[in-house]
Amino acid sequence: MQNTNRGSFGGKLGIILASAGSAVGLGNIWRFPTEVGRNGGAAFILVYLCFVFFLAMPVMVSEFVIGRASKANTVDSYHRLAPGKPWFIVGYLGVLGGFLVLSFYSVVAGWTLHYTIASLLRQLTSGRDYGEFFNNFVSNPWQPIVYVALFLLFTHFIVARGVQAGIERYSKIMMPALLAIILILMTCSLSMPGSREGLRFLLHPDFSKVTASVVLSAMGQAFFSLSVGIGCLATYASYFQRDVPLVSSAFSVCFIDTLVAILSGFIIFPAVFSVSGVEVDAGPGLVFITLPNVFNMAFGDVPVVGYLFSGLFYILLLLAALTSSISMHEIDTAFLHEKFHLSRPHAASVVTAVCLVLGAACSLSFGSWEDVRIFGMGFFELFDFLTAKFIMPLCSIFISIFVGWVLDRKLVRSELTNDNTLHIRAARFFVFLIRWVAPFGMSIIFLNELLS
Ligand code: PHE
Repeated sequence: MQNTNRGSFGGKLGIILASAGSAVGLGNIWRFPTEVGRNGGAAFILVYLCFVFFLAMPVMVSEFVIGRASKANTVDSYHRLAPGKPWFIVGYLGVLGGFLVLSFYSVVAGWTLHYTIASLLRQLTSGRDYGEFFNNFVSNPWQPIVYVALFLLFTHFIVARGVQAGIERYSKIMMPALLAIILILMTCSLSMPGSREGLRFLLHPDFSKVTASVVLSAMGQAFFSLSVGIGCLATYASYFQRDVPLVSSAFSVCFIDTLVAILSGFIIFPAVFSVSGVEVDAGPGLVFITLPNVFNMAFGDVPVVGYLFSGLFYILLLLAALTSSISMHEIDTAFLHEKFHLSRPHAASVVTAVCLVLGAACSLSFGSWEDVRIFGMGFFELFDFLTAKFIMPLCSIFISIFVGWVLDRKLVRSELTNDNTLHIRAARFFVFLIRWVAPFGMSIIFLNELLS
């Protein structure tokens, strides 16, 4: 009873770039530097790298297996692979995660949209207090919500038309362009006076700063950045063809994602340390307060280049956000479309509407709803916490247990080796990571944090 009318991606390059498009986003350019700043720099990055390759990548491979073997949305995939068992709850948690993550993500993407327009209108010129500019904007009761709505509409239109062709073609253009811009910005940032301090912060680990909460943050960041744990990659993999090598595709996605995150650190921190008055642990505003300063100091003498450059940067950041938001939207759209037989545009409309309401609540938590606290957190912080530190790690544990211990071993092996046409060694190593390392490693860290 498999649905043979489902779309599929065209080629392998398209699959890697679309999946990398989901992975590379605000998580790399905005959240990674923020987390590095808050959690003490180099030591955090080392812990993060271990999590990416030993925990998150096996979960990514597991999601690929689930998606391609079932060819269904994230809830039905469990119904198909383990009929009559309660594993589908993991799928529902993913659906919930998709709504939460898209809601708070759209707020930051909305800020990016505002900054794109502001830099093209030359509002980010020198002599501005960027901290004040940022704070005034995010605490405004309605303006940021308009941008959330606009961003969600962009996402909506692409998803409603069917993601595959759009995402695939668009990722092939945007990903190399994004990388090129990052390299140019990094060169500017490294050449700024005082940048050495920033490099020290990034390259000299101080292990005394590694606490249990730093470890959990690094794990959360790895899951968030690689888009694992909420069925996003499983949904994409349900559109993969049989000849796609799952293990090496996952490696390419992890490699591209990590590269972009580290390079973003090399843009932000040398610049942060060279611009006085900006704190490394400035939180979510770091990128929005720091980068305009970077543009200004680097191009202050040639304003035209400065404004074109910052405009281009924010456009690319926005598009990186869009390739990710589409993948979050797709989790829930595919679910509503297939489960409730809504047409794709209708399913997409429901998702967009729900995320607009939730996104507005997240946005208001920077302004008039600042005092509305749940477990001591505003909506934005709460949604971020719930997805990156709770739903993603918890579902990742279940996903690796499901593929490592519940799914038929022959099925897993044939997915990992494309019906025994690929090397078995890498597959064996991954089966080991998925069975032993990932679930136990993640559970220890997760329980430790929960109990404390
Ligand atoms: N990985 C994306 C980023 O780094 C965020 C994301 C999370 C995308 C969950 C999809 C699912 O920005």
